[in-house]
Amino acid sequence: MLQPAPVHTAEAIALPTPFTIRAIYDENYRTKTFVLDGKLDAYPGQFVMAWLPRFDEKPFSLVNADPITLMVTAVGPFSNLLHEKKPGDLLWIRGPFGQGFHLDETMKRPVLVGGGYGVAPLYWLARTQMGKAERITVIVGARTGVDLLYSTQFAQLAALSSGTRLDWIATTEDGSEGVPGRVVDALLPLLSADAIDGIYACGPHGMLAALEAIGQQYHVPAQLSWEAYMRCAIGICGACEHGGKLLCLDGPVLGN
Ligand SMILES: Cc1cc2nc3c(=O)[nH]c(=O)nc-3n(C[C@H](O)[C@H](O)[C@H](O)COP(=O)(O)OP(=O)(O)OC[C@H]3O[C@@H](n4cnc5c(N)ncnc54)[C@H](O)[C@@H]3O)c2cc1C
Ligand code: FES
Repeated sequence: MLQPAPVHTAEAIALPTPFTIRAIYDENYRTKTFVLDGKLDAYPGQFVMAWLPRFDEKPFSLVNADPITLMVTAVGPFSNLLHEKKPGDLLWIRGPFGQGFHLDETMKRPVLVGGGYGVAPLYWLARTQMGKAERITVIVGARTGVDLLYSTQFAQLAALSSGTRLDWIATTEDGSEGVPGRVVDALLPLLSADAIDGIYACGPHGMLAALEAIGQQYHVPAQLSWEAYMRCAIGICGACEHGGKLLCLDGPVLGN
């Protein structure tokens, strides 16, 4: 007997939806923030797939879901083409996808650690925790001072009288701004002073691997957003496999 054909709904396949680019802001010499004319039901740490028809589709963390906001660093063909877009142009979006950050109410002194574009989901996470946490420490690392991202946005957040103290610490590998060195150089003194009860991070693999080891060493829970090459974003192609997990479904945020 013939079996009924599987039913594919638009939701399961997650077809791209066109959104109009409403505004574009320059963040540094190679990074722009794109604000679209729509919203998604999402939370910090989740990502979307952005599609440029007849070209390619790439994953981007949400900086905000309402309105949909993405921060894009121009490093290659797709991101460079996206940087050529102007307000009024269309950008096709699938998502949101994945597991984001989970902060419970007992987390009073989290540290948010971002490297490069990893700052994007952490800025949204920080906004959601203002008024809930006692103190939020944000550590942002970059190679040089001009590579640092969202310093103005975090300064504005820190100035809010929400009952939460927000400390923003920059680290630069060339020492041109903030603490010379890498994010762990700013984090270790805080952990030694017992000033942190959870690590939330997004950035390059080397940084995340170091933070994972440090979290275990200091018995501090760590939720880390791992980067992977993504194609389908819905658990079919296997492109995003990382340590036996599919980062598009089980991640990109892994940890406790
Ligand atoms: C879950 C997830 C979330 C992401 N969120 C963001 C985001 O919020 N903002 C963002 O800009 N990108 C983000 N990315 C990366 C993004 O999807 C693309 O990889 C990036 O735009 C490069 O695509 P490309 O075709 O322009 O260059 P590619 O040809 O893919 O990359 C060119 C070269 O640059 C390197 N590279 C890739 N991305 C970066 C980067 N961000 N900084 C420095 N070097 C890089 C690559 O290793 C490669 O060597 C995310 C990736 C994942 C998996
Ligand atoms: S991107 Fe295809 S399985 Fe994750």
